[in-house]
Amino acid sequence: MSLSVEKITAHIGARVHGVDPADELSGETIAAIRIALTEHKALVFDAPTLDAAGQERFAARFGPLTAAHPTVPGGETPQVLDVDGEVNKANEWHTDVTFVVNPPAISTLRSIVVPSYGGETLIANSAAAYESLPERLRDWADTLWAVHTNVYDYAEPRPVRKAAEAAYRAIFESTPYETSHPVVRVHPETGERGLFIGGFVRGIEGLSTTESRDVLRLLQAHVTKPEHVLRWSWRPGQLLVFDNRITQHYAIDNYDDQPRKLSRVTVAGDVPVSVGGERSRSIIGDSSHYSVVADPWREVAA
Ligand code: SIN
Repeated sequence: MSLSVEKITAHIGARVHGVDPADELSGETIAAIRIALTEHKALVFDAPTLDAAGQERFAARFGPLTAAHPTVPGGETPQVLDVDGEVNKANEWHTDVTFVVNPPAISTLRSIVVPSYGGETLIANSAAAYESLPERLRDWADTLWAVHTNVYDYAEPRPVRKAAEAAYRAIFESTPYETSHPVVRVHPETGERGLFIGGFVRGIEGLSTTESRDVLRLLQAHVTKPEHVLRWSWRPGQLLVFDNRITQHYAIDNYDDQPRKLSRVTVAGDVPVSVGGERSRSIIGDSSHYSVVADPWREVAA
């Protein structure tokens, strides 16, 4: 059976059929997946036999892997991040690890244990969000920069329900990072512009806290518009691959106390570039132990 791509919503998401990520895949197949990913932003594969080693092998075909996380230790291997609803719900819109200067290019999530209801992952197309802005707002957003941090919601502390969640959070924030990124990022492969914001943003440079919140609320409303969002209902043994440079995601906390376990492996990213050609800059924290700085063109040509 050969690869086929079935689009599942107008703006984001496709099912990939005829390819098992656990198999040894040809360069041609990987190139076809890469093209589908740039077009659809999020791809879902059935991967019933895929294990942690296989997930790493598959993800590494798209570029060098990051460590599991800048502060949270790996699970089965140093590159695998356990995503466990017991300790971290991830029920906030975000792009993975934007508090470092080169956040992952691609994130892969493998479902291991899924609840009998709920626990869907939402993924939003932030290029569609940018396109949906009125032209004058787009022009203004093009000029803005935002500070992202992993110590991100101290202004509005979230209720912590369990000791395990509190412990996870303490590790997550154990080394502070702060990075200034353009609010509009130019995708390094396609040239598309996307809103590059999300839950790790502490504020917009040059605006007060209140002004930042209002501007972010406005921009974020375009990202999370239902038309821009894929709602993926998991079955065990699936692999969701998304372009972290041009999406945000959210894990819905609607599964009560049922177990929900995924594993995440991410591919190293480049340093984001603004519409004006300026690159993001690190303010606090050295993340070189977490990720190399990728050269997207080398990966595409490989
Ligand atoms: C994540 O944010 O990495 C996890 C998303 C999910 O649990 O669906």
